[in-house]
Amino acid sequence: MKLYIEKDYNALSERAADIISSFLKEKPEAVLGLPTGSTPIRTYELLSEKCKRGEISFKKVKTFNLDEYSKLSPVDKHSYHYFMDNVLFSKIDIKKENNFFPYEKYDEKIEKGGGIDLQVLGIGRDGHIGFNEPGSEFDSKTRETFLAEETIEDNSRFFNNKKDVPRKTITMGIETIMKAKNILVIASGENKSEAVSKALEGKISTEVPASIIQRHKNVIIILDKEAANNLKTGL
Ligand code: GLP
Repeated sequence: MKLYIEKDYNALSERAADIISSFLKEKPEAVLGLPTGSTPIRTYELLSEKCKRGEISFKKVKTFNLDEYSKLSPVDKHSYHYFMDNVLFSKIDIKKENNFFPYEKYDEKIEKGGGIDLQVLGIGRDGHIGFNEPGSEFDSKTRETFLAEETIEDNSRFFNNKKDVPRKTITMGIETIMKAKNILVIASGENKSEAVSKALEGKISTEVPASIIQRHKNVIIILDKEAANNLKTGL
């Protein structure tokens, strides 16, 4: 496990964008697993800037998004599909047909696509990855799940009010995520510090889904200082 602790959110995002860019330079046809949420927004901006400057290209890249709200259409402003189109895909030279979202037979599609080379992950306050909430089995595949109360609360900031947050979601399973050849975790802010220390230093347990990454051979973690606040060791 390689750990970077950066001074702030912007530095964290620069580090993440640099790592993803180097990856694409080495493997222009890479298969990327991508998260949504607030954390990757700056990283995506920096990647689109690099693409505009001609430093990287997504022409041969395939992307598989990590999760999605059930029943929201791709053009619904609250869907993760809409978010990705808006924040990243419309700003880079990627082919639309190479962007995949978790609908039917997702695990098979990922395998057919060659498997995920680099899975980028955010982390929830309750230790979730994707929408794999505490209690999710480590051998889970892409499936429908229900949101935990804490996540409904957290994600309500993207909706008019809490009751509008869809309760049902589709997420890559934990096994799906762990099959990725490389994993890059990004976490920012004090409110993630407890989940981060449990995930990286705590017992590996389904109660903290992100703790499973301790078992992955190729993991890079990028935190800002606040998110690293609770870490006891330098790992
Ligand atoms: C959300 C998403 C996850 C995301 C995580 C962190 O609920 N389903 O894919 O990584 O929670 O989100 P944020 O970056 O907004 O804190």
